[in-house]
Amino acid sequence: MSLVTDSPRLPCPVASDSFQRCLSPTCAATFDIGETHFRCPACGDLLDVVHDWNRLPVPSRLADFEKRWSTRNNPLDFSGVWRFRELLPFAPADRIVTIGEGQTLLQRADKVAEYVGLNPGGLSLQYEGMNPSGSFKDNGMTAAFTHARMVNASRVACASTGNTSAALAVYCSATDLGFRAIIFVGSGKIAYGKLAQALDHGALTIQIVGDFDDAMARVQQVADRLGVYLMNSVNPFRLEGQKTIIYRILEGLSWEVPDWIVVPGGNLGNSSAFGKALIELVHLGLIEHPPRLAVINAAGARTLDELVGKRSLSWLSGLPEMSKVDHYYGELDTGHVKASTIASAIEINRPVNLKKCLRALDFCQGVVSSASDQEIMDAKARVGAGGLGCEPASAAAVAGARRLVREGVIARSDRVVCILTGHQLKDPTATVAYHGTDQEQFDKILGSRGVQRAGFANRPIVVANELDDIIRAIALYSGERADA
Ligand code: F0G
Repeated sequence: MSLVTDSPRLPCPVASDSFQRCLSPTCAATFDIGETHFRCPACGDLLDVVHDWNRLPVPSRLADFEKRWSTRNNPLDFSGVWRFRELLPFAPADRIVTIGEGQTLLQRADKVAEYVGLNPGGLSLQYEGMNPSGSFKDNGMTAAFTHARMVNASRVACASTGNTSAALAVYCSATDLGFRAIIFVGSGKIAYGKLAQALDHGALTIQIVGDFDDAMARVQQVADRLGVYLMNSVNPFRLEGQKTIIYRILEGLSWEVPDWIVVPGGNLGNSSAFGKALIELVHLGLIEHPPRLAVINAAGARTLDELVGKRSLSWLSGLPEMSKVDHYYGELDTGHVKASTIASAIEINRPVNLKKCLRALDFCQGVVSSASDQEIMDAKARVGAGGLGCEPASAAAVAGARRLVREGVIARSDRVVCILTGHQLKDPTATVAYHGTDQEQFDKILGSRGVQRAGFANRPIVVANELDDIIRAIALYSGERADA
């Protein structure tokens, strides 16, 4: 087998008023936008994409972006990411890779608000399941593929709990630009809907005997060794695209800032991107103050909650005490503790964007919480009954909001937006186990994780194939008389 390396990652200078900068204030090394690093070559810290706003044209009001609704036949104005392109201005227009991502919906959800404990009108759900690959990842993928195109990459890789890999596979197959997808997943660790997408869209799918954290470590080594372009959210261009979720939320609220944005936390790319978006919007005077941010872990993968909530890890102007992180990871290793939750999308113990998330929490007076698998599945059922379906990880946001209302952190009268990060059909196994009548299935999928009751189950009714029986069953279960 030959190990063919892609074109070497030589700096490819691109005329731009954006550049890359190391997150560490003691390093702060900068790199051209045309370089491909993923981590600072000088110190190993994360990189940011930085824009020289003094030299860039930015609309004076966010509402000016609405004009692009009338020019939707231009693919860049159609995209829910690139119609905000002045706020992620790193790419020449002719390099942009878009498949029409970001046509998402902010929906008022009164039934779910009642469940969460908020006043009517207090809760909106930002439904990112409407993206082409069914999750919020497309927002980031369009930006990272654009950068990959700028640097002439051809092979693109990621480790994934399923949605990043689905998005990667979709972008490779939907564009005719010669991109080839290589994805790393933990064997048995991704939901079937997502695995189906990777396979159907033709990605080279490497199933590692291990979990996401193992796959993430390996893909970084492989990217280094083979010069493959890395599409995980450690790639700062991904996060530029994910900033636009914030812009669309504000747009959905007529440019009013909500009190809270609640997001599930896994690898912490989304929360990091939200923080960067809000820092920039305040800096540019486009909003006066940020909303508060709540990041919700699954209880079985609660690194952020543990480190921030229990061990007081914080941003400290860019110099967080990373020894606390190392110490915690050491404890996980010694105790052979692996992430474990029904919300497989966020089954992650070593989030690569931890530091950037701390920045977001610092800027947005953020809080962190975690939700048990029981809370997640119950919240998921309430979200489904309220209109929009989501996968378990997304429901963590709703479960977390509910917990924070109960604890008095979020007030009943607050205006809250929860991000539904992924589509309901991504993980039908969990849904059917919850609602279904098969006890063995329930025990295997949910009971084994401590879920004890499906409190909001909508059980299917098994009936003989006889008309009278069917009519009787309908009457019995819908509260109507058979002869009515
Ligand atoms: N919700 C869903 C549906 C996800 O797929 C993910 C992450 C998250 C929430 C967490 O977002 O990582 O930005 O904190 N999924 C990644 C993947 C890890 O590989 O698909 P995050």
